[in-house]
Amino acid sequence: MHSVLITGGAGFIGQNLVHAWRAARPGDQLVVLDALTYAANLRSLEPLIAGGQIKFVTGSINDADLVLRLFEEHRFTRVAHLAAESHVDRSIVDPEAFLQTNVLGTFTLLKAALDCWRASGTLELARFLHVSTDEVYGSLLPADPAFTETTPYRPNSPYAASKAASDHMVRAFVTTYGMPALITNCSNNYGPYQHPEKLIPLMIIHALEGKPLPIYGDGTNVRDWLHVSDHCEALMAVIDRGRIGETYNIGGGNERNNREVVGQICDAIDGAFSAEPGLASRFRSCPAAANLSCRSLMTFVTDRAGHDHRYAIDARKLADELGNRSSVRFEDGLRQTIRWYLDQETWWRDVTSGAYRDWIDKNYSFRIAV
Ligand code: NAD
Ligand code: TYD
Repeated sequence: MHSVLITGGAGFIGQNLVHAWRAARPGDQLVVLDALTYAANLRSLEPLIAGGQIKFVTGSINDADLVLRLFEEHRFTRVAHLAAESHVDRSIVDPEAFLQTNVLGTFTLLKAALDCWRASGTLELARFLHVSTDEVYGSLLPADPAFTETTPYRPNSPYAASKAASDHMVRAFVTTYGMPALITNCSNNYGPYQHPEKLIPLMIIHALEGKPLPIYGDGTNVRDWLHVSDHCEALMAVIDRGRIGETYNIGGGNERNNREVVGQICDAIDGAFSAEPGLASRFRSCPAAANLSCRSLMTFVTDRAGHDHRYAIDARKLADELGNRSSVRFEDGLRQTIRWYLDQETWWRDVTSGAYRDWIDKNYSFRIAV
């Protein structure tokens, strides 16, 4: 049994990890630390908080006193560190927040963990999992081999640079202080609870609302898509069985260009409307409600500055050493994800309208202290 700290547990991957961890390891004590930025959403965690199955703390990983108090009170033996600013477009507009959270926040967390584990003599038992991205490796040309764990870092966006800096700090803590840390670099995730600013939910919601589907540049940029449930399984495998100081790449083996992904979303929504006549009255502005294709909304817009052309992950180390492989086929995962957004209209309408923010401020502002 472990006492576990999950940072960023109210974000997209964090929420999925909290549920996966709770289900897989009912004996562990789970504490979630999250600053509840615009990207957070607590609705799915509410029943766990109310039922005492997890403890939720509102606060920042940059708050050294709070982090240290949490370590002292809960004696964590596992840390899964996901808290971050995570959206490339935002990092282009406001890079400073990325340095604060991703670089300095990671440092604050590492230092608190090290101090606490040293003081209690538990350094050997403890594990610190730093959850990072494949974007640290930069961009691939179409014929390049996929990223391996030894591919040199060449980050291109402020987001990727901030994650690269945090990876380097984790590595330095391992080498210099004997920190029991591991790093994962994962490809693009998709699935339930993803914020509507990211490609897949944005396109689903825009299509349902009959808004243009903005594809950057010519839409030939390639991402390697991984269902979030596969990512969570891999994270638990790495923290359980990974070797300290090692990096593990995690990927889905699903390379698709953006034009293809958006086209598949359109086709799947068109198909859902044909099969289910009730959708037309719920989403009247969607072209599929008038028997037109959502593809009519596809719009090519100005490219993202510094847009990485292609990411692809070689995940053989994870498979060979830890026996972990992704299992969700992209086409199945995409259909399930579209179904989720169709069924969870209240969730995304709250997130996009700001009503959820008001609710959070009213209900959670008092939970700042430990
Ligand atoms: P997200 O933006 O959905 O969630 C991030 C969470 O961190 C939010 O709940 C936010 O409130 C919280 N947070 C932000 N600043 C904080 C701070 N200072 N202190 C405490 N909490 C803070 O992100 P995500 O997509 O769930 O990504 C989680 C992690 O996985 C990130 O580290 C990201 O770099 C990494 N990652 C994401 C992807 C992906 O495709 N989404 C892929 C690879 C790696
Ligand atoms: P995104 O979901 O922002 O993830 P990342 O930038 O971390 O890969 O974007 C995925 C891809 O989709 C990326 O190539 C940028 C592109 N994209 C669009 O074409 N239009 C959009 O509106 C968004 C948000 C992304």
